[in-house]
Amino acid sequence: MRTKIFQGMFVAIGVAFLAAASLCGAQEMESHIGSLTGHSNDGTKLYKRYCFYCHGQYGDGAGENAAWIEPKPRDFTAATFKCRSTTTGFLPTDEDLYKSIARGFSNSNMPPWAPLSNQNRADLVAYIKTFSPRWKTEKPAEVLVVPSEPPVNIESISHGHELFEKLECWKCHGQEGRGDGPSASTLTDSKDQPIRPYNFAGGANDSRFKCGSENADIYKIFMTGVDGTPMPSFGDVIKPNDAWDLVHFLRTLQVNRKSKENEVLKAAGGKLLPEKPAPPAPEAPAAPDAKAPGSR
Ligand code: HEC
Ligand code: HEC
Repeated sequence: MRTKIFQGMFVAIGVAFLAAASLCGAQEMESHIGSLTGHSNDGTKLYKRYCFYCHGQYGDGAGENAAWIEPKPRDFTAATFKCRSTTTGFLPTDEDLYKSIARGFSNSNMPPWAPLSNQNRADLVAYIKTFSPRWKTEKPAEVLVVPSEPPVNIESISHGHELFEKLECWKCHGQEGRGDGPSASTLTDSKDQPIRPYNFAGGANDSRFKCGSENADIYKIFMTGVDGTPMPSFGDVIKPNDAWDLVHFLRTLQVNRKSKENEVLKAAGGKLLPEKPAPPAPEAPAAPDAKAPGSR
């Protein structure tokens, strides 16, 4: 009887020990996208089948195809991601990665993985997170709040153009947004690979963005920055409503695209409004009396 109890205790201790060991040692990670939970263990075989040959066995972007493609596949060990709803320097949300995997990256070899099931993609997100310890040590930053979009009108587009000039977007993207500004040919990414600024006028009639095709996606791009590339974050510099004006102007650089912005510009005869003169300086208040009432 007594030995039975002892045996039972040993088994219980053993089980607890094993459970603790697997918690600390194993790399099992989860992802959470809405009501979906992804499991990295389930992502392993999907990764080996679909992602491995570009992103590499160790997730370092050095798969056997990597030598032949430009831009290079993402190195997941650095955990630096382009398409985020979070501010610059921070990890993306699980949902950001999930969407990137479904959408693919236009102007690159990263295909859209729409044929995979939602659960498959959630498992892959969890698996990608096993490649960098940052996912264990850092919390994702606050998600950027995108205020609702004001109406598109010629005032907004014209003001957006002023910002494009003032913030020197043209230095890289070029005055007409063709990706041919004076700095364009000298740019390199965080892996010392040459990188071209986005060409807004490019393509046939559809020029897609890497991180989505809605106006809100463009808003996020320059307010969060494209991490790992010279495309900076302007989140600290541009006020929310001004950012919308800039989005409206950028849309007019997509000259071949049917858009509200291009219609408004056409209706205005293709002409932007002249820059508003700075408001006159308020009249200097009368110099305060050196001896204000009550003082001595
Ligand atoms: C044919 C090569 C190729 C395959 C296969 C491939 N990728 Fe990619 N992937 C790329 C390239 C290239 C980039 C970088 C694109 C860029 O920077 O514009 C990339 C980027 C990414 C990113 C970065 C997102 C960001 O915001 O920076 C993620 C996540 C990703 N891939 C996941 C996957 C997953 C998951 C699979 C398998 C289901 C996969 N990729 C298969 C080539 C590939
Ligand atoms: C120092 C050079 C530089 C400056 C300045 C710059 N950009 Fe960029 N921009 C880039 C590069 C490089 C890319 C391409 C990133 C990539 O392909 O991963 C890019 C990409 C973009 C994209 C497209 C991303 C996508 O989803 O495909 C947008 C939109 C953009 N820039 C807007 C702006 C705006 C607006 C400004 C000014 C407020 C600006 N950029 C200033 C270098 C620059």
